[in-house]
Amino acid sequence: MKINQTIALVTGGASGLGEATVREIVANGGKVAIADLNEDAGNALSEELGDSALFCKTDVTNEKDVSNILDQGMEAFGAINAAVNFAGIAVAAKTLGKDGPHPLKLYQKVIDINLIGTFNVCRLAAERMQKNSPTEDGELGAIVNTASVAAYDGQKGQPAYAASKAGIAGLTLPMARDLASYGVRVNTIAPGLFLTPLLSALPEEALQALEKQPLFPQRLGKPQEIAKLACFMIECAYMNAEVVRLDGGIRLP
Ligand SMILES: NC(=O)c1ccc[n+]([C@@H]2O[C@H](COP(=O)([O-])OP(=O)(O)OC[C@H]3O[C@@H](n4cnc5c(N)ncnc54)[C@H](O)[C@@H]3O)[C@@H](O)[C@H]2O)c1
Repeated sequence: MKINQTIALVTGGASGLGEATVREIVANGGKVAIADLNEDAGNALSEELGDSALFCKTDVTNEKDVSNILDQGMEAFGAINAAVNFAGIAVAAKTLGKDGPHPLKLYQKVIDINLIGTFNVCRLAAERMQKNSPTEDGELGAIVNTASVAAYDGQKGQPAYAASKAGIAGLTLPMARDLASYGVRVNTIAPGLFLTPLLSALPEEALQALEKQPLFPQRLGKPQEIAKLACFMIECAYMNAEVVRLDGGIRLP
């Protein structure tokens, strides 16, 4: 699937890695339906991108919201043939800490947004993709999800975040198997440390310490580097059921 023929739903598309992917798809001739909770940022981005993008305030955990933006995208652009999931939150809380056990509600919230939200988007997007015209490989759509290197080397304070991301890595193969007969591929990106609003809120000292952690190059990743991998996963018909770390060789201590 060429990017100039791609009509993608991008969740978390108003910020960070999602925004970079929205910009990369549009810069290469594709169209994007941007799903995010952040109305101001989402509206500003879609206005800037003109006819190539639309925005709907969307909570990825809400069935109606996700169906609504898929319908809006299909109405405006004629189809949805890619779903790219970046919506996610990161929290820091230990299983047991000074203030007592990890709040259960917080744990459930992280799993709900990161893991169940991703699954919700995948299942509803795949349903819409059935209606597409096949490519010469018989392909009807491509799904790209976002895990994290924390899926493999989660740190202290990450039992919720790491589990949510390990869940996304874990569903990649069974979902690719489920959707193969529908001509839909499923791949997952596991980013290392990327300079987005998620990280840029950290103090300068903490950022400098993080920059030293990748093997090479010793810097934080650029959101556009993730955007290019997401586009490769959409374009390359032979890429399926894979989780790819993009992390400068980092292994979280
Ligand atoms: N930045 C990194 O270093 C890094 C590393 C590993 C994984 N990730 C993952 O990449 C994804 C994007 O991260 P980012 O750094 O761009 O973060 P970000 O905070 O810049 O962007 C996340 C976006 O998701 C949106 N969002 C949150 N909850 C939502 C919901 N329920 N419904 C719809 N939208 C929602 C937010 O409004 C925000 O615009 C996340 O899943 C994150 O866990 C990021």
